[in-house]
Amino acid sequence: MSAAFVPTDYFARHSVSRIFGAGERCEVDLGCGDGGFLLRMAAHYPERRFLGVERLLGRVRKVCRDADRRGLDNLRCLRAESRYFLEWMAEPGSISRLHYLFPDPWPKEKHHKNRLVQESFLPILHRALAPQGEFLFKTDHEEYFLWVCERLEASPLFARAEWDAEFYPKTDFQQQWEAMGKSIFAARYVKQQP
Ligand SMILES: C[S@@+](CC[C@H](N)C(=O)[O-])C[C@H]1O[C@@H](n2cnc3c(N)ncnc32)[C@H](O)[C@@H]1O
Repeated sequence: MSAAFVPTDYFARHSVSRIFGAGERCEVDLGCGDGGFLLRMAAHYPERRFLGVERLLGRVRKVCRDADRRGLDNLRCLRAESRYFLEWMAEPGSISRLHYLFPDPWPKEKHHKNRLVQESFLPILHRALAPQGEFLFKTDHEEYFLWVCERLEASPLFARAEWDAEFYPKTDFQQQWEAMGKSIFAARYVKQQP
């Protein structure tokens, strides 16, 4: 078994059942890094499927190695760019929860165009999510937090919801930032039918 999901065709959409061999829905961790969150979620919820998306090959390899070692057959990891994956590779309506945790905030104004969440991103996110699908966002960067919330709240495609208290492990970056005494900001949005 290998947790590596290596598409034969990067231009095709990939159904959850093709990636995992079963099911129509999965949770996605965008920019999963070394996978601390993903691995713990997959171990805690063996009945759910988890896909990590990460652009750095070394990190993807580490996640796959750790998943294989732990025998987690409900976890896959894909090397891809986040927006490309959501826009061109994910089957519409296939993601039950999208975790967007401690992304690069691109703090300089001239780099804001590199931020994942833009007005043009919202229909892409909406299409990829399943009905009632959720977008869960955490960051230590208050200005990017407000940027994301402002855009999602201005859109009829999403509604803000309470962060529910179920099992939700801290990511590797969250642990680092908290150890440095930084505040953490979190928000949860639910897909609306327009
Ligand atoms: C700050 S780290 C956070 C990692 C993890 N989510 C955590 O909280 O521990 C951001 C991660 O996103 C990845 N990343 C950044 N931009 C990306 C993109 N456009 N597509 C895919 N991965 C990306 C980086 O390589 C890095 O592993």
